[in-house]
Amino acid sequence: MTLLVSLHLFRWLCRQRSHSCPPGPLAWPVIGNAPQLGNAPHLYFTRLVKKYGNVFQIKLGSRTVVVLNGGSIKQALVKQGSDFSGRPDFTSFQYISNGESMAFGNSTDWWKVYRKVAQSTVRMFSTGNPQTKKTFENHVLSEGKELLRLFLRKTKEDKYFQPLTYLVVSTANIMSAVCFGKRYSYEDEEFQQVVGRNDQFTKTVGAGSIVDVMPWLQYFPNPIKTIFENFKKLNLEFSAFVRDKVVEHRKTIDSSTIRDMTDAFIVALDQIRDKMGLPEKDYVSSTVGDVFGASQDTLSTALQWIILILVKYPEIQVRLQQEVDKVVDRSRVPAIEDQQQLPYVMAFIYEVMRFTSFVPLTIPHSTTTDTSIMGYTVPKNTVIFINQWSVNHDPSNWSQPDIFDPERFLDQSGMLNKDLTGNVLLFSLGKRRCIGEELSKMELFLLTALIAHQCNITADPAVPVKLGYNYGLTLKPHAFSVAVSVRDDMKLLEVDTSQPSSDSQTKE
Ligand code: HEM
Repeated sequence: MTLLVSLHLFRWLCRQRSHSCPPGPLAWPVIGNAPQLGNAPHLYFTRLVKKYGNVFQIKLGSRTVVVLNGGSIKQALVKQGSDFSGRPDFTSFQYISNGESMAFGNSTDWWKVYRKVAQSTVRMFSTGNPQTKKTFENHVLSEGKELLRLFLRKTKEDKYFQPLTYLVVSTANIMSAVCFGKRYSYEDEEFQQVVGRNDQFTKTVGAGSIVDVMPWLQYFPNPIKTIFENFKKLNLEFSAFVRDKVVEHRKTIDSSTIRDMTDAFIVALDQIRDKMGLPEKDYVSSTVGDVFGASQDTLSTALQWIILILVKYPEIQVRLQQEVDKVVDRSRVPAIEDQQQLPYVMAFIYEVMRFTSFVPLTIPHSTTTDTSIMGYTVPKNTVIFINQWSVNHDPSNWSQPDIFDPERFLDQSGMLNKDLTGNVLLFSLGKRRCIGEELSKMELFLLTALIAHQCNITADPAVPVKLGYNYGLTLKPHAFSVAVSVRDDMKLLEVDTSQPSSDSQTKE
């Protein structure tokens, strides 16, 4: 033991003296710095910035990890984009979409093709043009109304209820309508089973997940092994769910009438496969799985934070209602065209994203070649963590970053300050930047404006509202309860003015 520790100490001292390698804390043999990560690794990293600067390295198990913070992120992901666009060969990533996920796969030529097709297809079904925007708006608003009706019913039955499951099903339903042309009832157990285990997924793939840096833990009984076994099972079930949808679509597809995203992926990817002479294989399921999977966890988490913050700061809820009331009269619900006239709603959404930074670190990256960053050498295949939280809470960018204040995004004339909103980092940057950013902002705008226009949401006065969370790829708020009341009457919530497109069916 003494020999091992001395050897380790010696190596660490050498590293500290060598200027070409990023500095970092002393690591334990075998486990490295894993115990120091605690239950909020992004906060640990942000503390290390004060000591070592924006670029430092830690050891997790046997892996060296370079952590990028603040200004070094733009430098790496945008200016040296290709060098930092890889994904590590983590054990957990190999179980997502049977190891064929575009989001968790390395940056190969085939990945570029997948990403391009996925990006243009997502646009084609959401923000691509005024017509697709309207269709997407219909999906969001009809699901939003359904959700609010359910909230009102739950309040009548239980007074205070936990909104989590309903938010998960509702956001998954929006994307299910877009991806598969189908929505599910809130009581559908199969659907709940498929979409209701996000916490188990994001705990395992978040930066700092133990099994990826100490893979030997999967070979004998221990709590990490159990969590990993569950992770494998849920991925198999998720892949089977998506594969079934693709098989059903293939049976009925007519390439002259594209019904939904799955049809669009089938046509585009089959064409590419034939052109490139690739073997007959299902290239569609993993791509649809990426889009459906990446969207439902992130968006349901965003909505949980929005609701929690509305009840935490009732005065901000009133301010949102006042702005929406000024622009949208009581004869209709808010629409996408109202966005320009609702700067406070947008400022609120940006502040939720900045303040919570609910994707604190991106999906882990890796270097694709020997490279350097801010004067430090980084070898090929080094694991890279991108600390988005550090950018959103940097006191040199934001005054009082730990205070929730949407006003910070408004200029003197009350309009949205686009220079400042551009400084919020939640969808990453560069070659791996999220492909669902525009869609997400549109959906969050519509749902926030709808809630403010139609409802009051309050917390149980007996339980103080806290903003604590569990760490993972997304930060999930601890369970909380709310009551929802309608602001005037049910007219607009009951009459579905925004019919979903004819291809959408409800599975009873
Ligand atoms: C509020 C909602 C969302 C947030 C905060 C978010 C954030 C992110 C982040 C941080 C990444 C990792 C980027 C990196 O590794 O550098 C990512 C990747 C990705 N996101 Fe999102 N996302 C959201 C919604 C969506 C939606 C709605 C979709 C699909 C329509 C989507 C599809 C993807 C895909 C496919 C990737 C992988 C990109 C790649 O590896 O090339 N996301 N997202």
